[in-house]
Amino acid sequence: MSGRELDEFFNLLKRLADAFGIPGYEEEVRSIIIDELKPYADELWVDRLGNVVAVKKGSGDARVMVAAHMDEIGLMVKSIDEHGFLYIAPVGGWSDIILPGQRLRIMTRSGKLVYGVVGTKPPHVMTPEEAKQVIPIDKLFVDVGASSRKEVEEMGIQVGSPIDLDREAVRIGKHRATGKAFDDRVGVAVMIEAFKRLAERGVEATVYAVATVQEETGLKGARTIAYALQPDAALSIDVTIAADVPGVEEPKHITKLGKGPAIKIIDGRSGSGTISDKRIVRLLEEAAREEGIPFQYEVATGGTTDATAIQLTRSGVPVSAVSIPTRYIHSPVEVLDLRDAVNAARLIAAAVARMTPSWFREVLPPRRVYK
Ligand code: CO
Ligand code: ZN
Repeated sequence: MSGRELDEFFNLLKRLADAFGIPGYEEEVRSIIIDELKPYADELWVDRLGNVVAVKKGSGDARVMVAAHMDEIGLMVKSIDEHGFLYIAPVGGWSDIILPGQRLRIMTRSGKLVYGVVGTKPPHVMTPEEAKQVIPIDKLFVDVGASSRKEVEEMGIQVGSPIDLDREAVRIGKHRATGKAFDDRVGVAVMIEAFKRLAERGVEATVYAVATVQEETGLKGARTIAYALQPDAALSIDVTIAADVPGVEEPKHITKLGKGPAIKIIDGRSGSGTISDKRIVRLLEEAAREEGIPFQYEVATGGTTDATAIQLTRSGVPVSAVSIPTRYIHSPVEVLDLRDAVNAARLIAAAVARMTPSWFREVLPPRRVYK
């Protein structure tokens, strides 16, 4: 893989990850996605919920959906006190330990982003017990530089204003990057890259590349767009846990950075998320081996992706997922290996190209009739 390929991928990832896009407020990231996909699509539209659909028409009648979510976890203004401090509500799965000390961006009513910081009581005035405690999100406050509620309101901030983290993506080490919202802007970047490759190589099945909304708050966009598109099979692209860090024993790493994209086998607690269709898993393995793409398997014990909602649409959709191993998911310092991401795009393009109408007929027919 050339250095230039990694540079280009990082530039796309950075534009996507630095953009604002908490659930329900995905406008900025959506417009980048539209610009990227449009030159390669036969058709492109945005549905009422805000999902982006790019279509590459195939020669046969099979339909394949590839989905990545464009939203990121965020916060919302819950209340404003008389001294001008904001209290916040989580939108998506935050851990309480992440937020103190962070700088935030609050979207005002006119769409402008203003800065704020998550303050805490100075350590000097904490009791020894307080100093050891994790502060729950509902006790945290945000300082936007105002000294009264009126001043906050004059800034255009109100109850319900959406908030993200102020953090720019940067490269670290030889092949890695860190930033906010790699969950799932890396999946979106991989999807865009795979769609470009498929558009260039030509497809037999019609391919729907979908950037979904509101995944972090219940897989919502994926559910409705899968219903509309009625795909014969679907792949979701998302991050997965790379717990290859100090303090975690080897068998609990789930995936490791730099060992290739992960083919999902199962996720969710006790399999309550997705159980990948094994015929799609075989196809992914075959595609990887034939095109010399490294991969690892993912047996995750928590978390899930859009694939779970897509699978349960209408009379059922066979699904699997390709995951990008990522450390520190749901933090402002997510870390991934860019080579895994570029290889994920290669793997998806290779697998989708093999989802031909004849493959569907032989391997994955809508029903097998016995009588
Ligand atoms: Co997530
Ligand atoms: Zn995700």
